[in-house]
Amino acid sequence: MATKTRSRWVCQECGKQSLRYMGRCPSCGEFNTMVEEIIEVSRPGARAMQPRVVLPNSAPQRLTEVNTEEGQRLLVPMGEFNRVLGGGIVPGSIILIGGEPGIGKSTILIQTSAALAQTAGRVLYCSGEESARQIKMRADRLKLETDDLFLVTETNIKTILDHVYNIDPTVLVIDSIQTMYTDDSESSPGSVSQVRECASRLQMLAKTSGVSVFLVGHVTKEGNIAGPRVLEHLVDTVLYLEGDPFQSYRLLRSVKNRFGATSEVGVFEMTGMGMAEVPNPSEAFLAERVVAAPGTAIAVTMEGTRPLLVEIQALTSQTTFGNPRRTPNGVDYNRLLLISAVLSKRLGLKLHEQDIFINVVGGLNVDEPASDLAMAVALASSYFNQPTPADMAFVGEIGLSGELRTVGQLAARLAEAAKLGFKRVMTPRLRRKVVDAPKGLQLVEVRNIGEALAIAVPKD
Ligand code: TYD
Ligand code: MG
Repeated sequence: MATKTRSRWVCQECGKQSLRYMGRCPSCGEFNTMVEEIIEVSRPGARAMQPRVVLPNSAPQRLTEVNTEEGQRLLVPMGEFNRVLGGGIVPGSIILIGGEPGIGKSTILIQTSAALAQTAGRVLYCSGEESARQIKMRADRLKLETDDLFLVTETNIKTILDHVYNIDPTVLVIDSIQTMYTDDSESSPGSVSQVRECASRLQMLAKTSGVSVFLVGHVTKEGNIAGPRVLEHLVDTVLYLEGDPFQSYRLLRSVKNRFGATSEVGVFEMTGMGMAEVPNPSEAFLAERVVAAPGTAIAVTMEGTRPLLVEIQALTSQTTFGNPRRTPNGVDYNRLLLISAVLSKRLGLKLHEQDIFINVVGGLNVDEPASDLAMAVALASSYFNQPTPADMAFVGEIGLSGELRTVGQLAARLAEAAKLGFKRVMTPRLRRKVVDAPKGLQLVEVRNIGEALAIAVPKD
């Protein structure tokens, strides 16, 4: 044996190793994340005996001579998915899809696999969580049929690599990386060293053979992909599938992409027939809007490079007991506090005796400060029981003294509002003319929250 084993304490969040137990990880500061794992320690000289894997093109090249021609990307039949990937799957790339349990990762991947099997070649779907029968039953329900989709229930990475060798697929799906293990590492499946080891095997496979690999990763309650932050730098692309489990909309967001723009977002809807793309999300989010109801305002937010119109609803109601409550759903709690403080202090709204509820329709999360103005207008609209103009959307960040600040990507936002038939958009006053309003759209420029409310929620 060229190696001997030793145990170490490894932080399951960040991968920090330590020789003894610590209640708090000194690297990432998390509590109770150190778990004892068996680590292999190579003896000096052992490494020299291992065969070295030589990646193709390992000879140094001049920068000017590097071939930049990109191989043909594999197109996923869902346009929204392609968009998030930066225009399709790059052969030999490794893509991590993270998300909470039950959000739809397996569903979207089995659909994608079936479609790719029809157009791009063989697909091998390895599940460590469901039996082939369960997957087949789901595929039948989704009416997926193809000869070139292979299923296997397997958790040993070595066996999976054998299957890849035999089947020679174009795309490999691993659902999920936390269930995989390799004999080379003695820790239990799902631990940091196993996940890292398995992922680096698959990375090697992708880089040497040109197979594109999808990894499913579960996320912890804090929203990290379980333990392995380490995974994020091993892979080429990191996508998160997110959404409110009680709502049908799902956002697929790219947070890292070596082959495309990050923070690109695709919008899907979970239907009885699997995930369906939503090509025009603003329209979908505004579909159930009740015009002329007090307490709602339309914000134009950006998700990556894409503008989205969302309805922000607010309800203020007299506090009956104790402290007034602040219940934000889909907006940041601290932004809500800030905006209610500005409305109380600058405009004299008596919000200290009101419970406040905020809701973003469609289960979306709107963290962008550019939606401040819409939130403030919705709040005031509920407080005064006055509806906001139906043809007006709102864009702007609110400062502590109640002033409105300009926001980025105004042109894209205005274009989207015009496309959805809005006639007016309220924006902070522009010091110089940064954009031309699209045809048929009027800009209502205001300097501060007082001016904004005088127009949006006039007290006649
Ligand atoms: P799943 O893809 O298994 O989630 P994950 O792999 O991320 O854990 O999705 C499971 C949920 O999706 C489950 O609650 C049922 C729902 N679902 C639908 O609503 N429609 C469908 O067509 C399918 C297949 C699942
Ligand atoms: Mg699953």
